[in-house]
Amino acid sequence: MTTDPALPHSDRPTPVPAPLALGPALPHSDRPTPAPAPTTTGPAGSRGAPVTTGPAPSPGARPASVAASTATGPARSPGARPASVAASTATGPARSPGARPASVAASTATGPARSPGDRPASVAASTATGPARSPGARPASVAASTATGPAPSPGARPAPVATSPVPSRSDSPTPVPPGFPAALGPWRDRPGPLARSLSTAVREAVVDGRLAAGTRLPSERELSRVLGVSRGTVVAALTQLRDDGWLHTRQGSGSHVRLPARLTERTTPWSLDRGGAGDADLDLTLALTAAPHDAYLAALARAAERSAALLVDSGAATAGLPRLRELLADRYTRDGLATRPEQILVTSGAQAALTLLLDHLHTDRRRPVAVESPSYPGALAVLHARRTRLLPVPVTSEGGWDVGHLATAVRTRSPQLAYLVPDFQNPTGAHMDAATRAEIARLPLTVIADETLRDLDLRTPPGSEPHLAGPRVIQIGSASKTLWTGLRIGWIRATADLVRQLRRNPLQAQLSPPPLEQLIAAELLGEGLAAVLSDRRDRLRAQRDHLARLLDGTGWTYTVPDGGLSLWLHLGTTPATELAARAARHGLAVTPGPHFAADRATLTHHLRLPFTATPDVLGRAVELLRRSDELEVHRFVTA
Ligand SMILES: Cc1ncc(COP(=O)(O)O)c(C=O)c1O
Repeated sequence: MTTDPALPHSDRPTPVPAPLALGPALPHSDRPTPAPAPTTTGPAGSRGAPVTTGPAPSPGARPASVAASTATGPARSPGARPASVAASTATGPARSPGARPASVAASTATGPARSPGDRPASVAASTATGPARSPGARPASVAASTATGPAPSPGARPAPVATSPVPSRSDSPTPVPPGFPAALGPWRDRPGPLARSLSTAVREAVVDGRLAAGTRLPSERELSRVLGVSRGTVVAALTQLRDDGWLHTRQGSGSHVRLPARLTERTTPWSLDRGGAGDADLDLTLALTAAPHDAYLAALARAAERSAALLVDSGAATAGLPRLRELLADRYTRDGLATRPEQILVTSGAQAALTLLLDHLHTDRRRPVAVESPSYPGALAVLHARRTRLLPVPVTSEGGWDVGHLATAVRTRSPQLAYLVPDFQNPTGAHMDAATRAEIARLPLTVIADETLRDLDLRTPPGSEPHLAGPRVIQIGSASKTLWTGLRIGWIRATADLVRQLRRNPLQAQLSPPPLEQLIAAELLGEGLAAVLSDRRDRLRAQRDHLARLLDGTGWTYTVPDGGLSLWLHLGTTPATELAARAARHGLAVTPGPHFAADRATLTHHLRLPFTATPDVLGRAVELLRRSDELEVHRFVTA
């Protein structure tokens, strides 16, 4: 597993670049003076408002801290942009009325006094580095808005860009990428050394997709000319990018921007470990994994290739793409549960699957639905939203399910359905043994078995418990944990007849994922899946063991689970909601027990700690929890 540290602050695309250790010192005169106020603003703070005391969140709702941090942060859904980037690009490439053309900027007051090596591009162009401008050459103002991309946004100090419209062959073996350097935004406006501003701007442009990963940068000489800075500044910026993993240089094929391996080769979503400088701001309320980066990109490319036929079809909801249904059915069959594609209904996640099943099957609303206590808050939220009467069945990390309790409840309270998570149950991590599965399958009630966490078996080798299956058992699954929650692919495995009925439910179309996402899922769930799974199991196992070691000596107890994504702590005498509230004041968000309770009030001395964060973040989180707990001890001692 990687023991990659959380991103250093400097790695985060915040508008204010953190100190970077740069190579060559910058010539002071490289920095235009005085820099106008940056157009970017500080990141929306993700501190505060962590969910600690409220009711279980609604299915789609995320804790405020998460929403804040992901809305502005770098790890984001496609299309979303970090605030800093949005601020620097939202104003658009069209030049504002007040913005001066580059040629003017270069030759008038905005240009700094500069070192001999940092001549304004306009001068450079007419002397040593650039071609003598031919009579027909366009002025730089034109060049700036064409060959080198759009002019800067309003308020931005226009860079003294090259006056040479199109780089000549002889001095530019690498063409300037389209939209470059406009993709960097008003990078000169950042405080600090120019080289650092430049490397930060390149990093942010890569994160934001304005500079596609893989883009080949122009040569150092060309960059210095296009950006209007000294060669030394360019070299320093590129060295920093290379050292931090954002640039890959291969002899003969130039330098290509990329995302660093420490972000792409791990299971922790980037958003989980972006802390503020010196002041923890950590979110351990989510048990989510990052997408398997390279496999995902490859799947996207293959899906795009296969999409042509799909695009001439209607795109209307179906039971799922035939190829995906086949793949899923085959997986069940290989796993000992014979399944035909007609038995699979693809949904936009396991929660969607549960929603559809409840809507269709919970016909007698006077009868309760049996749920584990504790249980997955997302499922509880769906049930609460439907005002369902719940029948809690105890499950513990150590002892598993109380089947006797469930059997008695079935006899005396006649629940119409049960919702159970037999594999690495969220949050206890409990894993149902084969005998218990068989016993539950014999009970006279319909069971919805949520197998979302089944693939996250951290035993070596993974075990081979049968599915919880039988004539009255319906399985639901999801790619959320196995692959990526952003994929929004889940499914129902039921009888072909029930699948046909569910197709007629008016909710089905709404709960069906877009066909293109299904294409991607089909690519990911195919051949490469075993390698992806083995990799994430290795990393999660290491993170789980690391978290367990960190908790040594806390006095909190837990059972190390065989799989899943979190530890379920018993805090002894410490009330979990209070501890979570104190941790929140230290900048750490965690989810206390009552969020997992069917009645939303009990389990007051439990806390769920996911091990999906990087070891470094887990370390900081446990330290903060310990400190928060000590405060409590201190209060008792002094009271
Ligand atoms: C047991 C369980 N089911 C379902 C989900 C969510 O699945 P989906 O994202 O597919 O709706 C989770 C997420 O934590 C979970 O723990």
